[in-house]
Amino acid sequence: MSEVTIHRNGAVLEITLARPDKKNALTGAMYRQLVVALDAAERDETIGAILLKGDGGVFSAGNDIVDFVTGLDSGEEMPAAAFIRKLALNTTPIVAAVEGLAVGVGCTLLLHCDLIYAAPDARFSLPFVNLALVPEAGSSLLLPQRVGMARASAWLLLGEPFGAQEALDAGLVNAVVPNQELIGVAREKAAVLAGKPRAALAESRRLLRGDPKVLLERMEIELEAFAHALKSIEARAALASFLNKRK
Ligand code: COA
Repeated sequence: MSEVTIHRNGAVLEITLARPDKKNALTGAMYRQLVVALDAAERDETIGAILLKGDGGVFSAGNDIVDFVTGLDSGEEMPAAAFIRKLALNTTPIVAAVEGLAVGVGCTLLLHCDLIYAAPDARFSLPFVNLALVPEAGSSLLLPQRVGMARASAWLLLGEPFGAQEALDAGLVNAVVPNQELIGVAREKAAVLAGKPRAALAESRRLLRGDPKVLLERMEIELEAFAHALKSIEARAALASFLNKRK
């Protein structure tokens, strides 16, 4: 069964990370399915917005570490990189609904969404430095722009988790909504976006985001730094420690 499910709800394409037994950790196959879903939304003129959510009361525990380590020495481009690039250039508005964990890329991908609604139990974390890695998905640029340098430094350098209220206070999320109402609210906002004049909405998004070249360049620099960091003894040890704990 697919671990990324797609469901059409009126003019909204609902994309669900559906791997709850692994906390919706993202594998290469899932990144590729996400790219296909974003492409499909873009090609279909009857789709006006995307709703992104996770199954099982969790948004995502980030990159699947097992899958990631397995693909490390393949020499191929990381599927995560292709997905994030697609997300950065995506022109369909995205509303995200976050319950439970939003870790690593499960948190940084949110910076590319247009509206984010979080349940009170949402738990965000950016543990890159703890794993001897560096921020990705343009987060070294987008996070300080969004929440200010002080908070971005605390979240990215200390790597301490933070909750829904702190995310709201910092301006990372648009609202905190009780769990049982979260999907309803996110669906409603996505439907409102989908009902707006398309060209004006697309142009407004483009203006809000600024020149994508700056973001794409930063993402390339991050990728180089990430690939370099991955070779370090500390990073290999941190990833191995996760794999060993599982055994
Ligand atoms: N990659 C691969 N598998 C993951 C995962 C990840 N990022 N996050 C969770 N899982 C798996 C666990 O290995 C476990 O699998 P198992 O049942 O086969 O052992 C399952 O998902 C449930 O996770 P578990 O650790 O039992 O849940 P928890 O609620 O105790 O803890 C986390 C959840 C997310 C805090 C913990 O799993 C964790 O720290 N994961 C790594 C997150 C991370 O560092 N992501 C960023 C990578 S750059």
